Amino acid sequence: MSPSRISTRIRRIKPSPSSAAADRFAELRREGRDIINLAIGEPDFDTPAHIRQAGCEAIERGETRYTPVAGTLALREAIAAKLQRENGLAYSPREIIVTCGAKHALFNALSVTVEEGHEVIVPAPFWVSYPDIVLACDGTPVIVACREEDDFRLTPEALEAAITPATRWLVFNSPTNPTGTTYTGAQLRALADVLLRHPQVMVLTDDIYEHIRFDDVPPRHLLAIEPALRDRTLVVNGVSKTYAMTGWRIGYAAGPADIIAALDMLQSQSTSGVSSVSQAAAVVALNAEPTFLPEWVATYRKRRDTALRMLNAIPGIRARAPGGAFYLYPHCGGLIGKRTPEGKTLATDNDVVIHLLEAGGVMVLAGTAYGMSPYFRMSTATSVEQIEEGCRRIARAVARLS
Ligand SMILES: Cc1ncc(COP(=O)(O)O)c(C=O)c1O
Repeated sequence: MSPSRISTRIRRIKPSPSSAAADRFAELRREGRDIINLAIGEPDFDTPAHIRQAGCEAIERGETRYTPVAGTLALREAIAAKLQRENGLAYSPREIIVTCGAKHALFNALSVTVEEGHEVIVPAPFWVSYPDIVLACDGTPVIVACREEDDFRLTPEALEAAITPATRWLVFNSPTNPTGTTYTGAQLRALADVLLRHPQVMVLTDDIYEHIRFDDVPPRHLLAIEPALRDRTLVVNGVSKTYAMTGWRIGYAAGPADIIAALDMLQSQSTSGVSSVSQAAAVVALNAEPTFLPEWVATYRKRRDTALRMLNAIPGIRARAPGGAFYLYPHCGGLIGKRTPEGKTLATDNDVVIHLLEAGGVMVLAGTAYGMSPYFRMSTATSVEQIEEGCRRIARAVARLS
C-alpha cells in the first residue's frame, strides 16, 4: 500500500516493541528454537476463579447487549468505591468512564485534550506507548531523564526545568514500567508543590501497577496528597495487572466532568461501551476482597530477589531493586564495546539484547525502547525456574564476549 495513503499522524508512530517482541518470540518458537521469554508484560497468573465465574454468569443472565458508553452504573460505582477505599479519592460515577484497557483511557485522554504545539512531559525510562500516543495525538513528547542514582525517580528540579508555557500534561506512572520506581509521600509532596506553581499543567496518573509493591512505604496517591490538583488530574487505572485480567480489556479514567464528557463523546463515536461481559467480571473483581493478592505479590518479590541476585553476579551488568511492578531494568554498560565470538562489537543495548537472544536463547527488551540506554528490561512475570534459567543463559552469553 502506498505510504501516502496513511495519515501523517499515524506515520509518526511505531509499533509497540513489546508486541513486536511477542511476535518474534512466537516466530522463534515456530522455528523450533528454545527461548526463555523474559519480555512478558502481563501477569502469568490466571484470572481468579470468582472473577471468571462472574463473566460466565453475566453471559448466562443475558448481559450481552450494549452498555452505556461510559460503562455500566454498577461498574462505575465499583470504581468510585475502590478509588475512595484504596486511594482516598472521592469521585461520583458521573466523573468516571470505563475504557478498553488503561491504554485506551490514555490514548483517548490525550486525543481530547492535546493539540499541535502542546507539550507532554514523559519521565524516562517510560512505558513504551506514552511518546507514541502523544505523537499520534499531534503533541510533542518532552522526555525527562530520571537518573539511576535517584532510583529513576522524577525529581522536583527536573520537573520544574521541563515545564514551559506549552506544557499540557505530565504523565506520571508509579510503580513505573520498566523501572518499578515508587515514591514516598514526601517525594510526591515535592512534585505537587512544583505542579501548584504551574496551573496550565494537567496530571495524568497511570496507577496500573499500584498493588504490585515491595517497599514498606504506605502507598499514597499524588492527588490524595494534594487535593488542589483535582480539577486538573486524570486518574487512569484498570484491572489488567492487579487481577491478571489483561485480555478482558477493562480500564478506566476518573477526572473533571468536562474531560470525562469529552471522553464519553469520543467513545460514543468510536468504540461505544466496553464488552458487557468483561464489565460484569470487573464489578466482582473490584468489589470482592482480593485475597489472592498478598501471595501474588510475595511471589513477584521472590522472583525479583532471585533475578537481582543472579544478574548482579554477572560482570558488566548491575541491577537495582525495584520498589514495585514486575520488571527489572539492569544497566548493561559494562558489555558495550565487547566483541562476540563472531567478531561483532556490541555498540548499543539493542546489540546486547540481540546477542542475548541469538547466543543465549533469552529474550529481554532493549532500553532504547524505554528512553534510557544502555539498559534492558527483564520481566519477572514468569516462574522462578524460567528466571533462573534465563539468568544462567545471560551469564553464559556474557561469558562468551571478549
Ligand atoms: C504503565 C502501563 N500503563 C498501561 C498499560 C496498559 O494496560 P491495559 O492492559 O489496561 O491497557 C500497561 C501495560 O503494559 C503499562 O505497563
